[in-house]
Amino acid sequence: MPPSPIRKLVPYAEAAKKKGIKVYHLNIGQPDIETPPAIMDVVREMDFPVLEYSHSAGNESYRRKLVQYYQKTGIDVNHQQIIVTTGGSEAILFGFMSCLDSGDEVIIPEPFYANYNGFAVAADVKVVPVTSYIDSGFALPPIEEFEKKITSRTKAIVICNPNNPTGYLYSREEMEVLKQLILKHDLYLFADEAYREFCYEGTHTSAMHLTGVDDHVVLMDTISKRYSACGARIGALVTKNKAVLDTVLKFAQARLSPPGLGQILGEAAVDLPDNYFDKTKAEYQLRRDAIVERLNRMPGVFCPNPGGAFYAMARLPIDDADKFCQWLLEGFSHDQRTVMLAPATGFYSTEGLGKTEVRLAYVLNVQTINEAMDCLEEAIKQYPGKTSR
Ligand SMILES: Cc1ncc(COP(=O)(O)O)c(C=O)c1O
Repeated sequence: MPPSPIRKLVPYAEAAKKKGIKVYHLNIGQPDIETPPAIMDVVREMDFPVLEYSHSAGNESYRRKLVQYYQKTGIDVNHQQIIVTTGGSEAILFGFMSCLDSGDEVIIPEPFYANYNGFAVAADVKVVPVTSYIDSGFALPPIEEFEKKITSRTKAIVICNPNNPTGYLYSREEMEVLKQLILKHDLYLFADEAYREFCYEGTHTSAMHLTGVDDHVVLMDTISKRYSACGARIGALVTKNKAVLDTVLKFAQARLSPPGLGQILGEAAVDLPDNYFDKTKAEYQLRRDAIVERLNRMPGVFCPNPGGAFYAMARLPIDDADKFCQWLLEGFSHDQRTVMLAPATGFYSTEGLGKTEVRLAYVLNVQTINEAMDCLEEAIKQYPGKTSR
């Protein structure tokens, strides 16, 4: 089981904090945006004698409510095509376990959300990367690159849109290209749309907006980022493929039930006013603009403008991102402050890639981001492994 590239530096951050150093956490996608009080209140005010198991597929009332949410995003599904899961994490795991056999291969554009590796280990499937590059802003690699990787064991493609860690927002055209590919080779398209609401350049194309691929698309969703409710542990697997739903339900029954309180919160969230997302999206966009501008002003640093989610990838003038991120916590401080970043190597599956790149999660307010960027700028100047680029 590979370690999480996002969490492996935690002991160094803890040691830095013990020394009295303030650590700016740009390493993890834990939003600081308040969970809407109105939906917390609904949970607080619930009055029931027993906190019981729910239906394994999730409360019917919640699934029916989710149908309304999906309708607003142009996704036409009914409540029987939704299985509520313990976070998007379980939706990914159930998707892998239900659609893939031991030894099957799943193609994923890299860099990708590192936990896919863990789910692949659990499902005993092989992740086959197709590399996307920082110089093209991490756009979808040419389709020939996918074709080259397809074997008789290839069963699925995973697309995370907008992408974590790159922030790349796949266009309608790119999604259509993927559609042709999955039809041609009879593959599943696993669509992780955890950041659907956060698109700053252009609109979001869901895999479920594609026509003629109903049996191929498996949507993995979550309320964690949408409503800043990571602790609710509520996600959903959505598909029109009946056989997949039947199999996923068996896994869902084996784990009995998704979280009860979280479903109540999730159901209430669908009734938030339509403009709820305008405010959060605008806030993330301000942060993105601030961080991207600061990064690109630093000598030798390149950061493509991410179209969505709340992550940016940057290339730094350094010898080794893992060493640099550890050194930031162990060997550096500026006015008793430092920055915690995620080295990009853990998001690539191909050995040796991402060595000069880091991922930054812009989950702090603009002022704090600026303070963190002051630190990073100073750190790059002082880093012993600085390169001349
Ligand atoms: C792309 C992506 N998918 C899925 C998840 C899992 O989210 P959760 O299990 O909290 O719903 C995350 C969390 O960071 C993510 O970034």
